[in-house]
Amino acid sequence: MKILITGAAGFIGHYTAMHYAGRGDSVVGLDNINDYYEITLKHKRGQLGGFTSEAMESGKMVTSSIFPNYRFIKGDLTDKSFIDTLFKEEKFDIVCNLAAQAGVRYSIDNPYSYIQSNIVGFINILEACRHYPVKHLVYASSSSVYGMTEKTPFSEEDKCDNPASLYAATKKADELMAHVYSSLYKIPSTGLRFFTVYGPLGRPDMAPVLFMKAIMEDRPIKVFNHGNLFRDFTYIDDIVKGIAAVINSPAPTGNIPYRILNIGNSKPVALMDFIHAIEDVTEKKAILHYTEMQPGDVYITFADTTKLEKEFGYKPQTSIREGVKALYESMYGKV
Ligand SMILES: NC(=O)c1ccc[n+]([C@@H]2O[C@H](COP(=O)([O-])OP(=O)(O)OC[C@H]3O[C@@H](n4cnc5c(N)ncnc54)[C@H](O)[C@@H]3O)[C@@H](O)[C@H]2O)c1
Repeated sequence: MKILITGAAGFIGHYTAMHYAGRGDSVVGLDNINDYYEITLKHKRGQLGGFTSEAMESGKMVTSSIFPNYRFIKGDLTDKSFIDTLFKEEKFDIVCNLAAQAGVRYSIDNPYSYIQSNIVGFINILEACRHYPVKHLVYASSSSVYGMTEKTPFSEEDKCDNPASLYAATKKADELMAHVYSSLYKIPSTGLRFFTVYGPLGRPDMAPVLFMKAIMEDRPIKVFNHGNLFRDFTYIDDIVKGIAAVINSPAPTGNIPYRILNIGNSKPVALMDFIHAIEDVTEKKAILHYTEMQPGDVYITFADTTKLEKEFGYKPQTSIREGVKALYESMYGKV
């Protein structure tokens, strides 16, 4: 199988690419390697995938020194002719679109970055799938589409038209755009709503890495909404297993081959309990700085994963303690 994984220098994209490269599939990783967070982390992931600084040159396809079946190309989703040419030349079976401008808080000051990567970039992917047909388009949506929904757990059947951030609005827009393309052009598509993903080489803008670093460096942690927040933290390996469970099974070819699935731990954790888990693993006390709710944030995320379990017999399993321990080991050596 030949698979395109966009966002391959990113957190989830890196692990997904490594999974398929390790299996022996023909993998093309694509990323613009932007500086939303430190590029050194993206380079580190690249090196683990077998790429040198040569991969930094835009538009040049380079082959991994570890996996001869894994190639990487630096490029931007918003560059329509680049995306078209890539699809025309490579003829992908599967596309896994994980590239996006992520982060809720950043969207307050940088709205256009979300419109560019998540809307313009995604229409380029959809158009390419229309003109160079693929067996399955899988793309990252987000738990944030549930926005201000008060009912928990969040089910795929819930109405979600109350986004709390522009990030969430672009992810919901992606789902709607995919629906149109699945309907008009019969492109089998699956949108995956990921819930707060964490683990080794994780995003440095997200609470798990921010908290771990602050505790280890004896710096205060900003605890939003005075700690009264719940997150359905989901370990990276569980996300990759979820993607792998779904990818070879295109949405049912009914009238509209379109599907949305939650992938989350389905066990929301109070923010303070997550901090306590880090304290336990690091054997250090956090310095807490309680503060107000951040604009764009939501009070709780909680995945109903019944659909994933029923259709694919899969459910994320990693406990918070195991996940936090793995994160700590990856950042500071063995415990
Ligand atoms: N990490 C989470 O908790 C989480 C939760 C819900 C949804 N998601 C979604 O999952 C996907 C992967 O998230 P992540 O945590 O790995 O984020 P990430 O920021 O680590 O990875 C995204 C990658 O996409 C690349 N990218 C951004 N815009 C691009 C463009 N226009 N062209 C090419 N490359 C571009 C970035 O350089 C980055 O390496 C994203 O779509 C994100 O919105 C993540």
